[in-house]
Amino acid sequence: MCGIVGYIGHRKAYPIVLKGLQRLEYRGYDSAGIALYDGEQLKLSKTKGKVADLQEKLENEISTDGTVGIGHTRWATHGVPNDENSHPHYSNSGDLVIIHNGIIENYDTIKKELIKRGYEFHSDTDTEVLVNLIEDVQVKEGLKLGKAVQIALNQAVGAYAIAVFDKKKPDEIVVARLGSPLAIGVGDNEFFIASDASPFIEYTSSAIYLEDGEMAVIRRGKEIKIRKINNDSLVDPYIQKLKINLEQIEKNGYDHFMLKEIYEQPDAITDTYRGRMLVDQGIVRMAGVDDNISKFLNARRILIVACGTSWHAGLVAEYIFEDFARIPVEVEYASEFRYRNPVIYRDDVVIAISQSGETADTMAAIKLAKEKGAFVFGVCNVVGSSISRETHAGAYTHAGPEIGVASTKAFTTQITVLSLIALKLAKEKGTISNSDFHLYLRELELIPNKIKEALQSNEHITDVARKYKDASNFLYLGRGFNFPVALEGALKLKEISYIHAEGYPAAEMKHGPIALIDEMMPVVVIATRKGHYEKVISNIQEIKSRKGKIIGIVTKGDKEVRELADYVIEVPETVEAFTPLLTTIPLQLLSYHIALMLDKNVDQPRNLAKSVTVE
Ligand code: F6R
Repeated sequence: MCGIVGYIGHRKAYPIVLKGLQRLEYRGYDSAGIALYDGEQLKLSKTKGKVADLQEKLENEISTDGTVGIGHTRWATHGVPNDENSHPHYSNSGDLVIIHNGIIENYDTIKKELIKRGYEFHSDTDTEVLVNLIEDVQVKEGLKLGKAVQIALNQAVGAYAIAVFDKKKPDEIVVARLGSPLAIGVGDNEFFIASDASPFIEYTSSAIYLEDGEMAVIRRGKEIKIRKINNDSLVDPYIQKLKINLEQIEKNGYDHFMLKEIYEQPDAITDTYRGRMLVDQGIVRMAGVDDNISKFLNARRILIVACGTSWHAGLVAEYIFEDFARIPVEVEYASEFRYRNPVIYRDDVVIAISQSGETADTMAAIKLAKEKGAFVFGVCNVVGSSISRETHAGAYTHAGPEIGVASTKAFTTQITVLSLIALKLAKEKGTISNSDFHLYLRELELIPNKIKEALQSNEHITDVARKYKDASNFLYLGRGFNFPVALEGALKLKEISYIHAEGYPAAEMKHGPIALIDEMMPVVVIATRKGHYEKVISNIQEIKSRKGKIIGIVTKGDKEVRELADYVIEVPETVEAFTPLLTTIPLQLLSYHIALMLDKNVDQPRNLAKSVTVE
């Protein structure tokens, strides 16, 4: 939800900020803007549209000189995407300029107060209110920028990662965070500010991740001062060494990040289980689980909280945990859980799943579960993310940066981590035989190669996509472990092609959705040989007799579905519990190709953003 970037140092700020915005564009792409200070003047250019639109406009509008600058790419919350609502925002005097990722919930009350005091507003945003509140405090009380920002933030309710620049003090930028991420890259006499480390990894591998409720005054050539926003206490900066590299965040010859990330899944899954699964010794070891094993083994229930694709991974995990480890599992939309006064026992284990580790609803669900005394375990991809820090313990998925807005490798690596946990618990509890345990480990080890094999259907999937790209609706059906895959397949298609799609448990079709089926309706049916195969074939018959078009996702060598279906896409055979890791691959490719053929922006679908840091 919005990306922020800043630079202060000895290099030209513009190319760094511009490139940084391109890298952060996955976080929001309604509009973009940059403010630069050239030593004499503060110049600002912003526009509705993408960073590429901004570049064209800015280079015609203002000079790109200066060694300090801030930039923003927006996912609109308050106010429609237009030039006025784009960031950065000036204060009324024109001295201060701000970029903001988040929401100021009490902006309206503050705005009314400021209007009474003579302030004027040129946008509908909460951010313009915040910068004027900072200015008001600064002028009224004759304070330095850092102090004024601190006082203003103590009056604001909501979430933010901000960077504020004052042209009267051009050698400093003040930043602060609460509920939205903010990283500071520390170079040689230079500093970078960004929502994640991707804008500065080619310049420095040293970064400070601000914690919630912290702010920093960043001065050119000086030490960074970090303090708590609410009580002014100083915090020692903790400088981390970054592990990501440039290659991971570039397209590497693929047309889209989504395609690259689909193809990265064999390696990503290997990275997920590397060092954790010792197949020959029959061991699964995961520090976060090992250190808290009694909590897991004595858990009354496992509650899984997540959103979107991560919620779908949670649904797959429900089947796996219950099947392997015989622990009751409930899977909750974090956004519902947080507002429902849920029953949470102290001996529940709550697993929060989040690729970004920043999703606001998931974060709020974690806080609620902690308040009620539950042990909370995080499954995140982004190292050092807010959720990974808020949870008591956790396991990273190690999928590498996921930049395409539609989640792909995050899903399969989440399932891999959750499968490892379930297997470990099953072994400890004795709910799985030794031979099955070994069989599952060996099967999991084979999954990366089987995904490679599934990816070989890409060309055939392109033909299927061509055939059905003009359909207005799709139905996705699956059963058991593959029911969540049907939901995920439908979500993938909706979000990048804008075609309406619904996922359903195959047997539920006769309770309603069957009414939708006619010769115009493509139905994607996951019909692998393991798992209710005969029953799913009956569902296929029902679709066929109503003239629906059938695309079967089948086990390699399948004959029965092939006879009934219009198209089949084969995946290699595996144990039933791990079929989602394979059946999901053709569904990702199908939505990718349909979206591409419909000329949609695959990596940056409309209205979406990669990391949803607002409710
Ligand atoms: C779908 C998608 C979203 C996310 C959801 C949760 O492709 O990407 O549905 O899965 O916003 O995000 P995380 O996992 O970052 O908490």
